[in-house]
Amino acid sequence: MDKKLAINGGEKAAPVLPNRFHFGKEEKDAINKLFDDAIATGNAPGYNGPEEEAFCKEFAEFMGAKYADGTNGGTNSVYVALKSLNLPPFSEVIVGCVTDPGGMMPIAINNCIPVPADTAPGTFNTGAKEIEARITERTSAILVAHIGGEPADMPAIMAVAAKHNLPVVEDCAQSHMAKINGKNVGTFGRYGAFSLMFGKHMCTGGQGGAVICNTEEDYWNERRAADRGKPFNLPAGSTNNIPAISCNMDEFHAAVGRVQLKKLSGIVARRKKAVEMLKAAGLKDLKSISIPEMKKGVDHCYWWVGLKFNADVMKCTKEEFCAALTAEGLLVVPNYTGALPAKMDWYKNRASQHPWNNPLYKGEAGKKDYPTPNCDQAIKDTFILFVYESFGEKEVAMVVKAFQKVEAHYAK
Ligand SMILES: Cc1ncc(COP(=O)(O)O)c(C=O)c1O
Repeated sequence: MDKKLAINGGEKAAPVLPNRFHFGKEEKDAINKLFDDAIATGNAPGYNGPEEEAFCKEFAEFMGAKYADGTNGGTNSVYVALKSLNLPPFSEVIVGCVTDPGGMMPIAINNCIPVPADTAPGTFNTGAKEIEARITERTSAILVAHIGGEPADMPAIMAVAAKHNLPVVEDCAQSHMAKINGKNVGTFGRYGAFSLMFGKHMCTGGQGGAVICNTEEDYWNERRAADRGKPFNLPAGSTNNIPAISCNMDEFHAAVGRVQLKKLSGIVARRKKAVEMLKAAGLKDLKSISIPEMKKGVDHCYWWVGLKFNADVMKCTKEEFCAALTAEGLLVVPNYTGALPAKMDWYKNRASQHPWNNPLYKGEAGKKDYPTPNCDQAIKDTFILFVYESFGEKEVAMVVKAFQKVEAHYAK
């Protein structure tokens, strides 16, 4: 093996890692069929049509929920789920501090106040204890994201929610088919919000989403929340009953989603297998990193793998280590700061913005700091490695080689 690091001009250990290849002829055929029908009939494919109806039925059934509605994005899935709960204006919604901005901003868009909760120690997922610490008399709901493919501790979170009589929305954008004791995330809380944009395990195209739930009442609220308050399932003569935006999925996206849903189990299984192969091929013997172990019954679906950098045995920083891995050809993110919305300008400037500055809001969240020491530690310790379903033995060997090479160079 060329010992000279690629970052210092040596040969790359992983020069040819493949892209995901999660799109194929099947998706193209599904779209072509809609075009063929449109050309033959003169009617363009719309929304709330047969493809979406079928997609929603299939998606709900697949996830183990009774109902689903398609949306046009994960951010809007979270918006729809929260809107469906009809939360009191200016009430507080507790949200895990690690999430996409699109997993926190919809709280404010719904005229509620996001209150960031810390992560549980050693993970990017918020914990039950950390959520409970943020509950006040103004709290109206809990929003929990399952980060990176790892399920949050839903049994404990649901117990806290039940104790305080609060509804829970699960944000499953990053964790399609993550499970706890065989139960898919998204089916523990009142609503499960999914992003189905192109980077997720399965997608409906460039953008897309879905919201699942289990009661008919929640389902109709969700449909109205996703489509300008249209009077779905309301008495004849009713008209649009709430102000809401249009978050509709269209027929093209639904058609692609139906094909992708058939691939989802395979995508997740191949990712899990690749991670197991990586461990067996040498990743778990490295001194420079530790791979977090999942508790019994917890099923990670690996949107990415979070790896702990063991700084005490290395001569380099985590950032230098990651830069060297990147140069070798791996896909790594040294610091997951893009998923800390409460450290971004929109949140820093909240005191002067709606809804925090509205005189009807009587709480302190506009000026109060919500420290997140566990999260700060996790961001400091952890880096992210992307592992795709397209990785086989050859790719696994290259990834391990890159780690071994970089570790050998920087080990104390
Ligand atoms: C946890 C989480 N929530 C919400 C979103 C927003 O989804 P979208 O980009 O589909 O709007 C994302 C996107 O990555 C996410 O990771």
